[in-house]
Amino acid sequence: MMNSYILPLYLTLTGSIAVPVSDSVSSSSNSTTLTELCDSSYVQSLIPSNGTLLGIELIPSSVQAVVVDPSTQDSNSSGASSTSTYTSKYCSVTLEYTHTGKGDNVTVKYAFPSPDEFSNRFYLAGGGGYSLNSDATGGLTYGAVSGATSAGYDAFDYSLDEVFLYGNGSINWDATYMFSYQALGELTVVGKYLTREFYGLAQDEKLYTYFEGCSDGGREAMSQVQRWGDQYDGVIAGAPAFRFAQQQVLHVFSATVEHTLGYYPPTCELEKIVNATIEACDGLDGRVDGVISRSDLCALEFDLESLVGQPYYCAATTSSSLGFGFSKRDEASQTSHTPEQSGNITQEGIAVAKQIYDGLFNSDGERAYFSFRIGSSLDDADATYNADDDAWELNIPSTGGLYVQKFIKLLDLDNLENLDGVTYDTLIDWMKTGMYRYFDSLQTTVTDLTTFRDSGGKLIHYHGESDPSIPPASSIHYWQSVKDTMYGNLTFEDSLKQLDDWYQFYLIPGAAHCGANDLQPGPYPETNMEIMINWVENGVKPSGLNATVSEGKYASENQELCKWPTRPLWKSDNLSTFECSFDEASYKSWTYDLPAFKIPVY
Ligand SMILES: *[C@@H]1O[C@H](CO)[C@@H](O)[C@H](O)[C@H]1NC(C)=O
Ligand SMILES: *[C@@H]1O[C@H](CO)[C@@H](O)[C@H](O)[C@H]1NC(C)=O
Ligand SMILES: *[C@@H]1O[C@H](CO)[C@@H](O)[C@H](O)[C@H]1NC(C)=O
Ligand SMILES: *[C@@H]1O[C@H](CO)[C@@H](O)[C@H](O)[C@H]1NC(C)=O
Ligand SMILES: *[C@@H]1O[C@H](CO)[C@@H](O)[C@H](O)[C@H]1NC(C)=O
Ligand SMILES: *[C@@H]1O[C@H](CO)[C@@H](O)[C@H](O)[C@H]1NC(C)=O
Ligand SMILES: *[C@@H]1O[C@H](CO)[C@@H](O)[C@H](O)[C@H]1NC(C)=O
Ligand SMILES: *[C@@H]1O[C@H](CO)[C@@H](O)[C@H](O)[C@H]1NC(C)=O
Ligand SMILES: *[C@@H]1O[C@H](CO)[C@@H](O)[C@H](O)[C@H]1NC(C)=O
Ligand SMILES: *[C@@H]1O[C@H](CO)[C@@H](O)[C@H](O)[C@H]1NC(C)=O
Repeated sequence: MMNSYILPLYLTLTGSIAVPVSDSVSSSSNSTTLTELCDSSYVQSLIPSNGTLLGIELIPSSVQAVVVDPSTQDSNSSGASSTSTYTSKYCSVTLEYTHTGKGDNVTVKYAFPSPDEFSNRFYLAGGGGYSLNSDATGGLTYGAVSGATSAGYDAFDYSLDEVFLYGNGSINWDATYMFSYQALGELTVVGKYLTREFYGLAQDEKLYTYFEGCSDGGREAMSQVQRWGDQYDGVIAGAPAFRFAQQQVLHVFSATVEHTLGYYPPTCELEKIVNATIEACDGLDGRVDGVISRSDLCALEFDLESLVGQPYYCAATTSSSLGFGFSKRDEASQTSHTPEQSGNITQEGIAVAKQIYDGLFNSDGERAYFSFRIGSSLDDADATYNADDDAWELNIPSTGGLYVQKFIKLLDLDNLENLDGVTYDTLIDWMKTGMYRYFDSLQTTVTDLTTFRDSGGKLIHYHGESDPSIPPASSIHYWQSVKDTMYGNLTFEDSLKQLDDWYQFYLIPGAAHCGANDLQPGPYPETNMEIMINWVENGVKPSGLNATVSEGKYASENQELCKWPTRPLWKSDNLSTFECSFDEASYKSWTYDLPAFKIPVY
């Protein structure tokens, strides 16, 4: 019976359809049941009158409320379906709003747990790539109402890059701002209002509000901390794709290094350089576990040149790989063939790796940007094999090429065709153009978080130390900028003490982009929300970040990750203990000036 109402909810028709709910009254002790609350006319009656939420006019006739029973839901349906293991019935609500005087159409959908499962929480999850999250059910397992938004450009079905240009040269600024921060802020403001009304929370009853995301979801999390700081109690931001212009152009950097040096290493050669580096640096942190827990020591003590001449071998492969998800389009699997490869690591290959790990400098030798840490895999540098010529050739990652074409050159093209005439200075010019043009939208580098802090917000920020997509130094640079902006007149120690109460940053040894690393079987944190809830609701300030090793010799070992700026040092190979200590030289190796830019880059 319930099944007939379970449609992808953003496809439901508008209009005040009173949905006859045939669900039987549950045996909960609460006086009000989900069935009674989950009624379109009831939710309609909760809609605030125009003017209550400044600039937002909710359209009562668009409200649809339906009970969803996950246990009977077709697992193939999209939209309202959840990937979570939540099995209780919940109420799915969709409605539309328009911005005052604008006539646009934003559709939002929310999932409300039944009253007996509601824990006074509101939760949003971030998306990834150029996409916002489209699943409204992510908070249910926490007893939280959560939501998703069309952002006014049907973000349920389209990623920003697909709607970004109306045509060559013509930017869709509305979509850009909505994606950058506004749609999520509004989703929270509207959602919190409805949540309070839906369950009848008293005015002094707290509605704990959370945001969690990684990659662009991490940028989205930071956008909320920066722009809607008074709305959130707990925010978890992983590997944020912020400093958006620099970050996206960085994806063209590795190919530019190869183009400039005139050498496109076989993929196996680069892989071997990475493997051999991991092997060489593994023990510098005091334990041989396949993980570079101290990439700073690797950078300071290991010389890549020592790898020249080492043999490599890779069997021929035909593989289907998933894109990094920077665009929905990239998620289609791509088939690639590589031949059997064998040889010795060359001077040229090492030169490429060194230059990539060093980062981007302009022709005056001034640093423009930092790069991936030594020992990270060099994904952006993967060349393309041309079977006709039996040669390795230029491959420009579409993550970066798309950004340059669409967001910098304003051409409706999905990648750069080549790098003819492109120098390091060109990359820096693109970064500057992007930084200035999207300073107030995508860049997401506001460093004054006073509003968030003063309204009690807590922030856990983390980043994989061997992230091959977004350099962890990017997170550290932002952390340092916040510290300097907010505590610039305090001593280093005092500023750490202040930050510790509300903004904690963690590097995850060996981890890749928003996940564990195939090449380094290190720890990964899986219980961030539990930790955050405990901090926000019970005042338990984390002293480390709980992480678990999932593979290798130390599989299932738990580690309390060191809080930045302390770094781990294992005491002995056969002890599962390390100390977290501060090391000045290490800290300096993570600290960058970016003088190629003539204005501050936060
Ligand atoms: C608020 O404004 C919208 C659009 O202008 C309109 O459709 C809606 O009915 C108004 N809501 C109320 C409660 O007046
Ligand atoms: C889900 O989709 C697969 C293939 O697309 C199909 O074989 C299967 O029967 C579907 N399951 C349901 C429950 O509809
Ligand atoms: C708003 O957009 C939704 C799709 O997101 C559509 O179903 C609905 O008809 C639109 N409403 C108006 C008033 O155009
Ligand atoms: C519903 O009942 C549970 C206990 O069964 C209680 O913990 C919860 O606070 C109640 N919720 C409301 C909204 O009354
Ligand atoms: C946009 O510009 C590109 C590059 O000049 C061109 O290839 C493409 O055809 C143009 N698109 C349209 C719709 O004119
Ligand atoms: C690098 O190490 C990985 C994981 O141990 C292995 O699968 C791969 O074959 C190695 N590659 C080379 C070129 O040695
Ligand atoms: C690699 O180096 C070894 C000596 O270490 C040499 O025998 C071999 O010929 C070299 N292979 C290639 C492809 O250069
Ligand atoms: C730092 O500056 C802030 C704001 O100007 C001020 O409130 C605070 O007392 C200063 N702290 C110190 C240690 O000077
Ligand atoms: C640490 O995380 C693991 C799962 O990764 C979990 O089983 C364990 O309970 C957590 N420990 C603490 C103290 O939270
Ligand atoms: C490991 O423990 C044993 C005895 O407990 C000790 O003799 C040895 O030195 C320790 N260290 C290593 C690296 O094995």
